[in-house]
Amino acid sequence: MNFPDFNRSILKEISTPEWEKRNLTVLVKRDDLIHDEISGNKWRKLVYNIEQAQLKRNDTILTFGGAFSNHLVATACAAKLNGLKAIGIVRGEELTAESNATLQRCKDYGMELVFVSRELYHLRNDRQWWEELHLDYPNSLIIPEGGANFYGVLGCQEIWKELPKDTDRIFVAQGTTTTSCGILLGAPKSCFIHAVPVLKGFDAEAEMKQLLYSYFLDEELLTEFFSKLKIEQDYHFGGYGKYTPELLNYITEKYRQFGLKLDPVYTGKAFSAMEDLIQKLDLRNEKIIFIHTGGIQGSKGIEEKEGIELYE
Ligand SMILES: Cc1ncc(COP(=O)(O)O)c(C=O)c1O
Repeated sequence: MNFPDFNRSILKEISTPEWEKRNLTVLVKRDDLIHDEISGNKWRKLVYNIEQAQLKRNDTILTFGGAFSNHLVATACAAKLNGLKAIGIVRGEELTAESNATLQRCKDYGMELVFVSRELYHLRNDRQWWEELHLDYPNSLIIPEGGANFYGVLGCQEIWKELPKDTDRIFVAQGTTTTSCGILLGAPKSCFIHAVPVLKGFDAEAEMKQLLYSYFLDEELLTEFFSKLKIEQDYHFGGYGKYTPELLNYITEKYRQFGLKLDPVYTGKAFSAMEDLIQKLDLRNEKIIFIHTGGIQGSKGIEEKEGIELYE
């Protein structure tokens, strides 16, 4: 297997006079450095899925995504690196591979793109549709949207091999919840997780429970795990893919302050949650880790659309 180099994901300490006064050690887990294309949480969610495909001798990986999906590009690239064919089921029958840079990159990596209506896409987790897809694409391994399956969670759990065991708090952005589920499962007892959903009105807890049931956790264990988790609902900035001028300015400001490229879809929102909650919860004498889950690709799309440069 063409294995990701997780050593590239360093822990970078960042500081402000305010945090120093509070005696906070704030570290950024730079998963954005893992790979240029399969960046952030993407390799973590894909690594055991690709391994499964190879163990089962599948020759194709099939997955799902929207028009600007980071996961689709990452899957296309990871499949190519591992000699697998890739099929991407894309939401929106009006689209083509030329519709935007994300889809074009998927195509360039050799992914076959299948554009479907929003109604059909809605069935992306429907096992009956999966059976039909298996008939159309025999010998394929189907990975859910965003890598949200058991193997995705397992890969994310392993981030703990690279994190200090005396971490007091983690801040992480949440989409499908796969990354935060893995982090929660692997976390030491004394570590508290703040998960920051980027979707508005999203029942993150229900989503996480559903994913964690694939670990056969019972209610009692789930309650124990959930006691060290808080879902921070107030930092979605209008919802998935939505952003405000303040958020865009904030991202530029953080780039100047810390040299970190945060993105307007995920990590910018989660980072702002961390900064805000350090104040509101009056955190002191702690080791805090921010998980940089990548997302630079999303930034490029927004920079193009807005005619701005976020990192200058
Ligand atoms: C950059 C980035 N950060 C965070 C997330 C959220 O991760 P998850 O879907 O595992 O909750 C995603 C989506 O996969 C993402 O692309």
